[in-house]
Amino acid sequence: MESRGRTAAVVLAAGKGTRMGSQVHKQYLELYGKPLLYYALYAFENSSVDEIILVTGPGEVRYCREEIVERYGFSKVTVVTEGGRERYHSVYQGLKAVKNCGYVLIHDGARPCVTGDIIEAASDGARKYKACAVGMPVKDTIKISDENEFASMTPDRNRLWLIQTPQAFEYELVLQAYEKLMSSEEYQGRVTDDAMVVETMTQEKVKLIRGDYANIKITTPEDMEIAEVLLKRNNWEK
Ligand code: CTP
Ligand code: MG
Repeated sequence: MESRGRTAAVVLAAGKGTRMGSQVHKQYLELYGKPLLYYALYAFENSSVDEIILVTGPGEVRYCREEIVERYGFSKVTVVTEGGRERYHSVYQGLKAVKNCGYVLIHDGARPCVTGDIIEAASDGARKYKACAVGMPVKDTIKISDENEFASMTPDRNRLWLIQTPQAFEYELVLQAYEKLMSSEEYQGRVTDDAMVVETMTQEKVKLIRGDYANIKITTPEDMEIAEVLLKRNNWEK
């Protein structure tokens, strides 16, 4: 395929999992006998994505290559590279490792329940809108508190979304947005997702695409119990 049409996935696994509070970084905790990170890689390996860049913590590159990529035969993983201190550092490292792809999907390795359908929707969204993020409308009421934790505002729930990953972009667009971010300390402390980098650093609008409520991020211990139930639906325990 012509290189402009090719799609890469950057899968992030360079976090420390502080909120999980476990000794082993959360992406390597086991579910049904396999490390959490396995599940997201499996979904991308079996999708239309052409190559996968895996971003891991310092000193974890060899472990990931041998114990995850080679062990489970993830042939689309072309690069395993070290991330950085903050998530955006890791994303930038991942983006720089992408070769000959017109589109890129950025995914949290801590979201094991991502499906082929979600990946295809994000991939189509990038082609159609240049920039998109998977998410779902919120179910709970969201309030903004004042500095003393009294309710100060209740935004219209019909416009509120929970944002997930993958987030998918034209490669040059998101690379340029990240390059701008890396040279602007002012914004670095504020970004929490890739869409925000594109929203802040470029003129492009980011389309929100419906994913699945099951596409949860593993953050705290109870999320592991939820993921165990959700993954069971896909017969992962077999
Ligand atoms: N991540 C990363 N590099 C970082 C920080 C995060 O690649 N410097 C990745 C994580 O591995 C995870 C995803 O980004 O797959 C989402 O981050 P988060 O859920 O916040 O994970 P952690 O940063 O590991 O957890 P915590 O914030 O509780 O420390
Ligand atoms: Mg974090």
